[in-house]
Amino acid sequence: MSIQKERCWLFVPGHSQKMVDKALGLDVDVIIFDLEDGVPPDKKESARCVVAEALGQPASCAKRFVRVHAAQSAMIQVDLQAIVRPGLAGVVLSKVEEVEHIEQVDTALSALEKSIVLPEGEIKLVALVESARGLVQAPVIANASSRMAGLMLGAEDYALDMGFLTLMPDEADALLYARSGLAVAAASQKLQAIDKAFLDLDDAAGLVRETQRARLLGFSGKCLIHPAQIEAVHKGFLPTEEEVAIARRIVVAFAAAEATGSGVTVVDGRMVDLPIVERARRLLVLNNGKGED
Ligand code: COA
Ligand code: MG
Repeated sequence: MSIQKERCWLFVPGHSQKMVDKALGLDVDVIIFDLEDGVPPDKKESARCVVAEALGQPASCAKRFVRVHAAQSAMIQVDLQAIVRPGLAGVVLSKVEEVEHIEQVDTALSALEKSIVLPEGEIKLVALVESARGLVQAPVIANASSRMAGLMLGAEDYALDMGFLTLMPDEADALLYARSGLAVAAASQKLQAIDKAFLDLDDAAGLVRETQRARLLGFSGKCLIHPAQIEAVHKGFLPTEEEVAIARRIVVAFAAAEATGSGVTVVDGRMVDLPIVERARRLLVLNNGKGED
């Protein structure tokens, strides 16, 4: 049973040669070179060059994705032309609101793959959902192409679209529906759900808590914006010691119950049946990275 997914998705502004170089040596699961809103308008062209070059560089085992402009933007074609090359694992498509946005980019990717003799479908797609419309369409967006690998929540644009007139950091309640809805939409097509970035660079404990909450909601990955966030995100996605201890008790007690012909038992005063045991087993797999008897 493999339930390990890409946890750390690090955004790197494409025009910053320094950050791009640094990212190539970092222990993250995915590097997302950004060509969209993290790059000022007068740096777009140089960002495309820096990113194209970086895709050809040797790197840590991180997969390399590029965030491109929205399908509805005039810049999508030039972005794709610059970055489709060996070394590109996938595209994070900004501001996806319709199935047609995915279909359009899927077709463009197929043509570009053909032109450089890459197998068709090799380049994956992650849809960045960052509007009310995108959220409502998320279940069909998730099923729009065989390239789809994940759904990612863009919380800042979503908050803007929804008219959240606050800049206070605690948005947990306001974003609950969006985070939950996105995770369900991703799970409905067996895609990875990737949670929003955490913007408070000095609050590692807050990032651990937010990541733990993301795991509870069904996310298995999280956007990062700074290398210092890697440790907290890994920590947040791992089960706590208490969870591991409970899971062990559940697995042992259930095995004993099964041996007596029962499909249900009680652990720590709580009923335990099959789906709960299965969750306990998966949690132990997540904890070990390999599995447990
Ligand atoms: N990727 C790679 N390296 C990064 C990085 C990133 N996202 N963020 C910071 N670094 C590097 C810095 O270059 C610096 O490297 P050095 O030690 O070799 O000099 C080191 O990490 C420490 O950086 P620090 O000085 O603490 O941060 P900063 O003030 O340079 O940058 C931000 C802070 C927020 C501007 C920067 O982290 C950033 O641009 N993050 C990405 C934001 C983004 O992409 N937003 C859009 C998507 S949500
Ligand atoms: Mg955005």
